[in-house]
Amino acid sequence: MRKTLLAILVFASLIVNAQDINIIPRPASVQIGNGKFPINSFTKIVEAGSGLHNTALLLNNYLKKFYGIQLPIVKSTGVWQNAIVLNYDRIDNPFAGAYNLTIDKEKIYIGGDNETGVFYGVQSLIQLLPLDNKKNLVLPQVNISDAPRFAYRGLHLDCGRHFFDIAFIKKYIDFIAMYKLNTFHWHLTEDQGWRIEIKKYPKLTEVGAWRDGTIIGRYPGKGNDSTKHGGYYTQEQIKEIVKYAADRYITVIPEIEMPGHSMAALASYPELGCTGGPYAVQQTWGVFDDVYCAGNEKTFSFLQDVLDEVMDLFPSKYIHIGGDECPKTRWKTCPKCQQRIKDNNLKDEHALQSYVIQRIEKYVNSKGRQIIGWDEILEGGLAPNASVMSWRGEQGGIDAAKQKHTVIMTPGDWCYFDHSQTKNEDSVTIGGYTTVEKVYSYEPIPAALSADDAQYVLGAQANVWTEYMSNTNKVEYMIFPRLAAMSEVLWSNKQNRDWTDFEKRLLNEFKRYDWLKLNYSKAYFDIQASILPTENNDGVLYTLATKYKNGNIIVNDKTYSNPVLIKASSTINTQLIDNSSRKILSSITQNFSFNKATGKKITLVTNPSSSYPGNVGAFGLVNGVSAGTKGMNSAEWLGWSGKDMEAIIDFGKTENFTSVSISVWKQEASWIYLPSSVEIFISADGKDWNTVAKALPENGIWKDEHSISLNFSVQSAKYIKVIAHNYGKIADGKAGSGNNAWLFVDEIKVN
Ligand code: ACM
Ligand code: ZN
Repeated sequence: MRKTLLAILVFASLIVNAQDINIIPRPASVQIGNGKFPINSFTKIVEAGSGLHNTALLLNNYLKKFYGIQLPIVKSTGVWQNAIVLNYDRIDNPFAGAYNLTIDKEKIYIGGDNETGVFYGVQSLIQLLPLDNKKNLVLPQVNISDAPRFAYRGLHLDCGRHFFDIAFIKKYIDFIAMYKLNTFHWHLTEDQGWRIEIKKYPKLTEVGAWRDGTIIGRYPGKGNDSTKHGGYYTQEQIKEIVKYAADRYITVIPEIEMPGHSMAALASYPELGCTGGPYAVQQTWGVFDDVYCAGNEKTFSFLQDVLDEVMDLFPSKYIHIGGDECPKTRWKTCPKCQQRIKDNNLKDEHALQSYVIQRIEKYVNSKGRQIIGWDEILEGGLAPNASVMSWRGEQGGIDAAKQKHTVIMTPGDWCYFDHSQTKNEDSVTIGGYTTVEKVYSYEPIPAALSADDAQYVLGAQANVWTEYMSNTNKVEYMIFPRLAAMSEVLWSNKQNRDWTDFEKRLLNEFKRYDWLKLNYSKAYFDIQASILPTENNDGVLYTLATKYKNGNIIVNDKTYSNPVLIKASSTINTQLIDNSSRKILSSITQNFSFNKATGKKITLVTNPSSSYPGNVGAFGLVNGVSAGTKGMNSAEWLGWSGKDMEAIIDFGKTENFTSVSISVWKQEASWIYLPSSVEIFISADGKDWNTVAKALPENGIWKDEHSISLNFSVQSAKYIKVIAHNYGKIADGKAGSGNNAWLFVDEIKVN
């Protein structure tokens, strides 16, 4: 009683100032005192409860590694003085992980709801340690109580597209632990490589773990590096990883893909495919027609044998069996698959996929485990006990939860860490644009779910597909700092989520990344640039902003205060300078290239898609800046799905000109096609139009894939109209066949 009273008195006199506490994910409650507690070589780690030695050792290892000190670890002592006490507290939370962390002038006290909670308390303690002074381990007095919001807090890694050794897998597990996540989804089999030793099928790793080359650059690639790539994890290494993760209260969920994404397995055992092969471990990315034959009993005995060994290695309740992106092409013409459809009265090949998943589920269930599959497993009927991982947006998760199936949310727009996180990305990524702020904004409970159905959402996960991550530096760069944002989405109370508060802690987190020598994205410091029209259409206004409050934008060596008026072709250099360190945090070199249309008034007959609206709408077509040839993610592109671009430019006076060109983008794998034709019209009044020129591809092929130019005899007009006709429906056999093609247009140049 006296102790409690004293504690209240002490804390009542404290200033509540959460600014100095930079824990990520944000704890449920933080009260800061005004005293300090120094850790010195006499400080003991006290195990006041049983089962806490593992966590005591991890803390000591951290102190040794980063501060060069090792503390004595003792069982309980009567007096808790100059001590870091690890203990159990009774805390009410529906699942494991809650803890209290109190630092007063005598001790650091961590009380967890169980071992997991104590471990998370230690993670928070680690985040309170100074990042800039190796000798002086002084901690603020603080009173934290904390508990996780979701039971499932996951991070995935695709080791199929690129292989990462177990040293990195351990590091990756440390990242998961640092942010109080509890699940590592280990993607172990792919078209491009089989990564897990299976004793009964040695060719899976002798053959399936290796490919003879990899495409260079973005799919479909500029050639092949002709370099052997591969590797696999032995069963001993896998046991080591499972133990390493368990010591950090992390469950490893293995993923064995079926029935698609399995070409490495087919290359090893061709009799498992519909055609019998031969097959090769793939050297390029995408989705492949050759999949396991669903009509062949051998496929099932193989998969069950593999799963037997997998379940022996991984104690997780859930086994992920993939299920995504399985083309039905081979099944449609395979006699065995067709026989299976007939024998089982299945409606079609989608029902055959469902047959495969349900049969495998029955097997996995018979071993006391449960399956998770990507949301395609909903098609053709969900297996009775399956959990669904919703990746193609939220709908799969919504549908599954309404059917009372447990759900893990991983919708691409927020949770795919293979997307770019900056508009200025200079390495190749798969596409998309998912900033740290976007990740932070994610709410795992879809708004469409009732409170009852929402209970089926166990949590969420970030996915790291590694087509364009061939080394560990790139993986780190892609996950940090977005993982920090995701951890708060998964851990912190909804009412405690606040981007502005997170931003402050994020700046400290960058120091932590430097301290831990991690590679990370500095996209947060990107200068946000917009190019706006002027009032008189006599140039463009270059407008700059930064989220970073302790920095200044410098434009051509002068401090930026107002939008810069640009009236002719020029190059503008912009930098964000840190006010304290004077370091350059980010920079942009922007070329403006003027022609007769630049800065002029422009209107569009059909608006672009809201997914590709351009930088400042239609004006982006005449802002003097070209998207360039870097990729589809430039904000300069305007995109139309199935529709034409029809733009009218008003010169404000009669102009003479002899050519028009438009910049275009082609990336058919992403459904982006060049136009079917381009037409130019002129008008004196913007009402009556005369045809000037029309361009068509020669034999269906445009000579220049980046720009279409039309030249003609001198024309005089006040208005010009440019129509780029959409390609139309995508042909059979192409990615997205039957869907509308995208048309991507940027700068319209008139000379
Ligand atoms: C996936 O991203 N194909 C699950
Ligand atoms: Zn077949």
